[in-house]
Amino acid sequence: MEQALQQLRQDAEARVAAARDAAALRQVEIEYLGRGDGKLTVLLAGLPGLPLEQRKSAGQLANEVKAAIITRLNERRATFGQAESDLDVTQPGIAPQVGHRHLVTQAIDEITAIFERIGFQRSRHSEVDWEHYAFAALNMPADHPARDEWETFFVDAEPHSKLGRRVLTPHTSNGQVREMEQRRLPIRMVNIGKCYRRQIDVSHVPMFYQFEGLVVDEGITMAHLVGTLDYFAKAFFGPDRKIRIRPYHFQFTEPSIEIDINCAVCGGRGQLADGKICRLCKQGWLELGGAGMVHPNVLKAGKVDPKKYSGFAFGWGVERCFLMKSGLQIPDIRMLYENDLRFLQQF
Ligand code: DAH
Repeated sequence: MEQALQQLRQDAEARVAAARDAAALRQVEIEYLGRGDGKLTVLLAGLPGLPLEQRKSAGQLANEVKAAIITRLNERRATFGQAESDLDVTQPGIAPQVGHRHLVTQAIDEITAIFERIGFQRSRHSEVDWEHYAFAALNMPADHPARDEWETFFVDAEPHSKLGRRVLTPHTSNGQVREMEQRRLPIRMVNIGKCYRRQIDVSHVPMFYQFEGLVVDEGITMAHLVGTLDYFAKAFFGPDRKIRIRPYHFQFTEPSIEIDINCAVCGGRGQLADGKICRLCKQGWLELGGAGMVHPNVLKAGKVDPKKYSGFAFGWGVERCFLMKSGLQIPDIRMLYENDLRFLQQF
């Protein structure tokens, strides 16, 4: 048996050396190592008939012979190049997975582009900021009850002697006075950033995005504000959608308004096809955000003379705007952040 194995090894190695191409190598491989009637396989079929001692040593030798033949085959194959040996060039390719920007990022880019078309500049302001910029500079002095609405996360850090405590920005309005401090007039900014509030339900997430518009110039009026919002709504949601403006109160604007849009999920009916109430808007309209004419105290906080200049501002939620796009039927804002690829890949 052992002799036969040695012989087989010599023959196989000679054949490998003589092979002229990958196909010939494959032939040798099948002839010697083939599972069914390869020469080594056939030889080993005789093993069980041997006495135990011989069986052991012959088995061991057979393994060595096999390993040696495989090594030779591989060495020789490498000299012919991989492509020829085992790459089937007629096989269809494996397409790599193609990702895309997250839906919210797409919305941010679209919003930016819409405002850039009418002369706004994208800016970015701190997402962790002082209480001063988030509240006091916006006409909400310390302990003013209006602050409660912002369900703010305070950062456990040493307060600033003048600017107060650190907060995770509860709205992008902190960018208003920061922008006034940094830039020359006139201002046409759109500040898009993350906001944080202690809230979570079908239409709220604790981390979300807002876009904050601010225009400060001579002779700015409410008509400029309404014209700008109407332009945005038509560009982003489609010409056939409706927005409505309601009087409201914000400390940092006077007069102040809130803007609603007819709901994209229930078509503005407030109930779904099955008669159930629309969980997202509940009444046909969904609030997108607030706006108004910049309060003189806010201009003063930004060292802008309110006798000479006036301005308007608005702050809307990015995710909410995205949910309200025509044709989308996303019934819960939290789905945007569950990172379920089956959901995200649809866009
Ligand atoms: N900051 C407000 C909020 O988060 C939204 C807002 C209202 C922004 C009126 C403004 C504004 O710029 O003028 O609820």
